[in-house]
Amino acid sequence: MSGRNSMKVNITEMYVDEEIKEAVQRVLESKKYVKGEEAKSFEQEFAAFCHTRYGIATNSGTSALHVALLAAGITRGDEVIVPSHTFVATASPLLHIGARPVFAEVDRETYTIDPEEIRKKITDGTKAIIPVHLYGHPCDMDPIMELAREHHLTVIEDACQAHGAEYRGTRVGSMGDMACFSFFPSKNMTVAGDGGMIVTDNEEYAVKAKALVNQGRLEGRKYEHDFAGFNYRLSEILAAVGRVQLRHLLEWIERRREVARWYHDMLEGDGLILPVEKEWAKHVYHLYVIRCRNRDGLREFLKERGIAAGVHYPLPVHLQPAVRDVVGEVSLPFTEKIAQEVLSIPIHPQMREEDARYVAEAINEWGKQ
Ligand SMILES: Cc1ncc(COP(=O)(O)O)c(C=O)c1O
Repeated sequence: MSGRNSMKVNITEMYVDEEIKEAVQRVLESKKYVKGEEAKSFEQEFAAFCHTRYGIATNSGTSALHVALLAAGITRGDEVIVPSHTFVATASPLLHIGARPVFAEVDRETYTIDPEEIRKKITDGTKAIIPVHLYGHPCDMDPIMELAREHHLTVIEDACQAHGAEYRGTRVGSMGDMACFSFFPSKNMTVAGDGGMIVTDNEEYAVKAKALVNQGRLEGRKYEHDFAGFNYRLSEILAAVGRVQLRHLLEWIERRREVARWYHDMLEGDGLILPVEKEWAKHVYHLYVIRCRNRDGLREFLKERGIAAGVHYPLPVHLQPAVRDVVGEVSLPFTEKIAQEVLSIPIHPQMREEDARYVAEAINEWGKQ
């Protein structure tokens, strides 16, 4: 292939502009670094973006999930249905609470939790479902919400990878009882550090979540703590960065979707399975994940050509030592199979068509070997 080693394509790239630098400067000079107006405004703006009434900023997506579960009253011994083909943080807060993650198999096309598989896992002990909008593709939410209503289960959307994704024209974050987002630097929008957000329409959950994030204090209280809380607050500088990033999000999603279209047109080969966007979905392509045989070989081949690729995720959550010791033996054949095959190739808003072509040509060359 021509141009070998002549280009470098990163899997993702950070965006920093003058407006972001000015926002950081503004907060630095204000000398108000926590519990200020930036986080409050970010909460309102992000909730409005998700078409929800309340936003509660947190210092990570993981803390958002932890607090959302506690606000929903999930407690020791409760069963919560989750996918295993996800980042570990979908399930690890359950372990801290003493609740039991019950793993359900994922859909064969979208790799998001399969509603029919959820149904099979519901017992008298089930209290909640955490559907994960994986890679930026929404879960099939209508049947999930139907099951939840039928069995009186709480739904907490894990939207950590899916800011702005849509299900039948509705933004993720507004369909479950609560939803959690991450602003980790590689996400479709970031706060230039760790950060997260819970969104909800439910006032009771919002009040409790807000208190838990802030040392268990209800709004306006100083040294009175109704709950055993945490310091999970988002700092002002990070919130200010998040507010600027949010204003770019829709434009960045369109850029990601364009890169995905280029890949769809350029990638070929029988052994390759490309990501699917269901007719009811708006995929925001946090990750562009292909499946192939000898995934690790292809990853190495790309690395030699300056192309970064990632694996999300090489070991399913139910097989992680920290989880396996708690839940015991679980069999999820499709989840285990795709953990061997998935490869995330570069996608970010700054990518040019020639970058996508360089990546696609390398993959196509590999396929012909
Ligand atoms: C699906 C999923 N859930 C939860 C998290 C946790 O978010 P954070 O890294 O902000 O704690 C992430 C992000 O890494 C994620 O991708």
